[in-house]
Amino acid sequence: MNIILIGFMGSGKSSISRLLSQKLSKTLIDMDDEVVKLSGRKNIKEIFEHDGEVKFRELEVEVAKNLRETNNSVIATGGGVVVNRIIIDYLKQSGVIIYFKTSFETIKKRLGNPKDRPLFNDFILAKKLYDFRQPLYQEYAELIVDTDHKNKDQIAEEILKQIKGKM
Ligand code: S3P
Repeated sequence: MNIILIGFMGSGKSSISRLLSQKLSKTLIDMDDEVVKLSGRKNIKEIFEHDGEVKFRELEVEVAKNLRETNNSVIATGGGVVVNRIIIDYLKQSGVIIYFKTSFETIKKRLGNPKDRPLFNDFILAKKLYDFRQPLYQEYAELIVDTDHKNKDQIAEEILKQIKGKM
């Protein structure tokens, strides 16, 4: 059984996945890292610049497909996995999907002006993306955790409580 974290950029998926994997003695998998490995590029920015977003999404599909073989892991996804139904279908086959619900204000504060997130260069466009994706995260989530005004430990504890009955 895997725990799969979805949510917008800056919602805390990566940092909480680290904490959860330690607390539950599960393997930590970051989909963005797997995509970079598969691409042969240095980082995500380089994939977007040289190969384009479409190629990036293709690589995400490939990674999600391979993850069906994975067990006993906490998987932090990239914020855009919900735009590809097939990725969600693959992920659903391998575990419970938890949505990190975070307001755009909080995300803006957490991320500032990130250099490594090609889709968060412009606040207006990022907000549009955020609004478009909210119903998708909501639809695909089996559990929802509100992350505003909570620290990492509080979020991790809340998840542990919520998944108790499901694992
Ligand atoms: C993206 C989110 C990023 C990364 C890529 C695209 C998105 O991951 O996959 O920059 O489309 O929202 P994080 O959510 O970990 O920042």
